[in-house]
Amino acid sequence: MTKSENITWHHSQVSKEQRQALNHHKSVVLWFTGLSGSGKSTIANAVEKALFDQQIGSYVLDGDNMRFGLNSNLGFSAEDREENIRRIGEVAKLFADAGVITLTAFISPYRADRDKVRENLEADEFIEVFVDTPLEVCEQRDVKQLYAKARRGEIKGFTGIDAPYEAPLNPEITIDTSKQPLADSVKQVLTYLADHNYVSLATADEN
Ligand code: ADX
Repeated sequence: MTKSENITWHHSQVSKEQRQALNHHKSVVLWFTGLSGSGKSTIANAVEKALFDQQIGSYVLDGDNMRFGLNSNLGFSAEDREENIRRIGEVAKLFADAGVITLTAFISPYRADRDKVRENLEADEFIEVFVDTPLEVCEQRDVKQLYAKARRGEIKGFTGIDAPYEAPLNPEITIDTSKQPLADSVKQVLTYLADHNYVSLATADEN
């Protein structure tokens, strides 16, 4: 709910449809969700690069990065994670209105929080990408050495260890990075976007 009174929504003279026509692609939010170390950021960034190479602009909102700025006042309690996802959902909605393909890489462990973001966008504007890499694999990778800390009790409430992760029930895309190389995951996302007419990709012959 809004706290302010006496405020009015101003409509732009340029519509989202006009922006999309200018960009030659639809705006959409690719919402990556999964455990820490599952590969969300890696895939999102690789998809951004692959789209860029096809002359399609997109932008990655990354969990760790957003916590340095916009969400620097939030921690990892359930309430703070909810607020973290709510803010990112609002930012993603603005980006969608601006005609941008947005990729978000947040654990976003709570189903209800992700569903609220989906409901806040138009029906075909939210694509949930479940990065379903098993906990054992994430823990084995332990790129940031955070699982080791969590196991030693030095971090409390770490997702997958002593805080919950609620897996999506009907994600549009599911990726298990322990079963396929990065290039295949990128291709899986790009193929989804092309098959559902969000973008049109140049074929190898046209390049
Ligand atoms: S979310 O749960 O609110 O969606 P977010 O994606 O922003 O989390 O941040 C997750 C990142 O914060 C992890 O990849 C990890 O580097 C770091 N982190 C620090 N403390 C925790 C914690 N208690 N649980 C999960 N991740 C944590």
